Amino acid sequence: MPAQLLSTAVVFGLYFATRFADVVSAIALDRTPRANLDPYPGRPRVSFNSDGTFKITVFSDLHFGENPWDDWGPEQDVNSLQLMRTVLADEMPDYVVLNGDLITGENTFRENSTKLIDEIMAPINEAGVKFSSTHGNHDNQANITHLEEIQRELLVAPNSYTRLAPPGVGGEEGPGNYWVPVYTKDTDPAPSLILWFFDSRGGFAEGSGTTPVPDWVDSSVTDWIKSETEAMNSAWGPAEERSAIAFVHIPPHVIQALQSGLDSVRNPGLNADVLGSGSTQATTNSADNGKDDPFWSTLNANVKNLHAVISGHDHGNEWCVREPTQNVIFCFDKHSGYGGYSGVGWGHGVRNVIVQSPDPSSALDTWIRLEDGETRARVLLDQNYH
Ligand SMILES: *[C@@H]1O[C@H](CO)[C@@H](O)[C@H](O)[C@H]1NC(C)=O
Ligand SMILES: *[C@@H]1O[C@H](CO)[C@@H](O)[C@H](O)[C@H]1NC(C)=O
Repeated sequence: MPAQLLSTAVVFGLYFATRFADVVSAIALDRTPRANLDPYPGRPRVSFNSDGTFKITVFSDLHFGENPWDDWGPEQDVNSLQLMRTVLADEMPDYVVLNGDLITGENTFRENSTKLIDEIMAPINEAGVKFSSTHGNHDNQANITHLEEIQRELLVAPNSYTRLAPPGVGGEEGPGNYWVPVYTKDTDPAPSLILWFFDSRGGFAEGSGTTPVPDWVDSSVTDWIKSETEAMNSAWGPAEERSAIAFVHIPPHVIQALQSGLDSVRNPGLNADVLGSGSTQATTNSADNGKDDPFWSTLNANVKNLHAVISGHDHGNEWCVREPTQNVIFCFDKHSGYGGYSGVGWGHGVRNVIVQSPDPSSALDTWIRLEDGETRARVLLDQNYH
């Protein structure tokens, strides 16, 4: 019957039109991220050396701006700048990470708090080294926020690869979630190493400075990790073809239980900071315990060949350890700043990391370097690391 035929034709017509639209939009959706999965278009690429190595120097807990009203406060920053210049000149890293607590925010003033970022950036700008930052609990305070520090850094430091997470990702005061691709050769179509940076938030809300900010990586970051890794996999091939290193200021809470089992041969380095409430994510209030678990499991489920996860926050610890629930290696930074709490003989320095090759199964060679050049706690992190 003509009427039925007509309606059948209309249904088929609609069906094909819809399918066609689907196919077109699928191509459009695919092409946009696939052909151009480069968060830094037009910027120089971060890449391995021609000898196949890649060296990262991690400054942590710089704590600039402590007690500006005393003599010793500004003196600490002079000493921290000296340390940065000495280390950068000696180590000549391929990339620098500032792993949180750049500023002692509770001592800063609304009108000039971001001037401290300008001070911190000076030695990095002089060295001309590519770098990026995470932020810590002391970077979220009455007169400073992670967002303000990032915006200031991007304004004054041309070699910064720090980024802001898309809107809605990161939770309250936690915008610093991003990744940086590292290529074997500048001209390669796909990177061989991804540096991941996460915002563990903490500290206090801007304004009053008395309302606590959650001190863990927000669960909104989990969906973002999934979508980012899916985009990488479709653009560049399976996740197994790349390796990764992750940086987050406050350690995941699972690290806390491992301290009692440390061994000075397998886990060398200063172990002077007994982990307790607030030393790791979501442990300040017992009601929050475990709230960093979604982040921790999603990171490890989606990011393959994760060489290590590196944190600061606990100034008296330098060790690395294998975390058994996710079978991933965790390392502490070295307290770099003269500001922030310290103990007798702890010293100040950096963690150096050398990725030995772009091969995703390659080892990380890592050690602590003190300001005077002394090195210690060297470990080779590979599949055999305890
Ligand atoms: C924040 O800055 C204002 C303006 O300089 C100052 O009066 C106030 O004491 C600062 N707040 C804190 C908590 O330091
Ligand atoms: C910021 O302002 C305070 C109060 O006026 C002052 O003591 C401090 O030295 C200033 N800090 C910087 C980094 O300019």
